[in-house]
Amino acid sequence: MTHEIAVIPGDGIGREVTPAAVEVLEALPVDLEFVHAEAGDATLEETGEALPAETRAVAEEADATLFGAVGETAADVILPLREVVGSFANVRPARAYPGLDAVKPETDLVFIRENTEGVYSGIESEITEGVRTLTRVVTEEASREIAEYGFRYAQRNGYDDVTVAHKANVMRETDGLFLETAERVAEERDADYDTALMDALAMHLIIHPEDYGVVVCPNLAGDMLSDLAAGLVGGLGLLPSANIGHENALFEPVHGSAPDIAGQGVANPAAMLFSAAMLLEHLEYPDEAARLREAVEATLAEGPHTPDLGGDAGTEDVTAAVLDRL
Ligand code: NAI
Ligand code: MG
Repeated sequence: MTHEIAVIPGDGIGREVTPAAVEVLEALPVDLEFVHAEAGDATLEETGEALPAETRAVAEEADATLFGAVGETAADVILPLREVVGSFANVRPARAYPGLDAVKPETDLVFIRENTEGVYSGIESEITEGVRTLTRVVTEEASREIAEYGFRYAQRNGYDDVTVAHKANVMRETDGLFLETAERVAEERDADYDTALMDALAMHLIIHPEDYGVVVCPNLAGDMLSDLAAGLVGGLGLLPSANIGHENALFEPVHGSAPDIAGQGVANPAAMLFSAAMLLEHLEYPDEAARLREAVEATLAEGPHTPDLGGDAGTEDVTAAVLDRL
């Protein structure tokens, strides 16, 4: 069956790493059809809209989207796009790779972040001058969905440790419901798990990342803890992510448009290529996903390397090396 993939390169280095991912996907024996669409700062300038209706429609109709990065319009593009694909889970692996400098080379973490509610519900108001409020929404349905996804992910990917992050000692109602629901899901599945207060967890992750595997988090906690873990493995050029929905999904590197290096052809394509591997996994091409991941990992271990990893190779050199290994 042919899968239709929306390709939205965006701005800056998004335009350099996205073609690399498409090239590598085209080299694999998978049945994908690419539909290109535009969004971002340049699109806003040209059309008056950062996310044109046409791009939305392309993402909505596709089986999955591959998204590069946009610049200042990020909030107007990526947040609505995550909604367009109905994403409830944000999957963010933070893994150290052999041969590369990492603060903690033993790090192998995957954050499963609730992607629809919590502090990012968007319900904010000014009650009176100088007083503003935010409504933190937590539902049993979304909590159950993210916990089930997290436990299933751990099982399918061979992680023994599942940690549920929360702050239910203070946010008793909202995180109370999140925690209770996750615990119920664990019992139903007869799964081992730990719970951790998210502030203390931030410290433990830095000192002993090897004690953790899959971390199931409320929205804001997942956003922050995953960036913290990114610091442990050394470099935004390495971190992929997936926004998973029921019938659709969007895959993107964690990094932005990197205006400081855009146009020079030196962006590290690894984050985008790992995102493409997550896309293959999602479309149930596990063998091809593993092949791609291994080719990128071997290239990270043996080179060539882009300047962010201390080398002097360009995006195209690294992509060619990955293609060779495939
Ligand atoms: P950034 O991720 O674009 O760059 C941060 C630093 O990491 C820069 O020094 C950059 O050169 C480096 N870097 C990032 N990716 C790299 C790669 N693949 N290879 C080598 N080096 C890499 O974040 P920054 O500078 O905070 O934001 C730049 C723009 O990107 C802003 O306009 C921001 O709004 C946007 N942004 C967009 C996102 C998205 O589209 N999802 C996410 C984050 C930021
Ligand atoms: Mg963030």
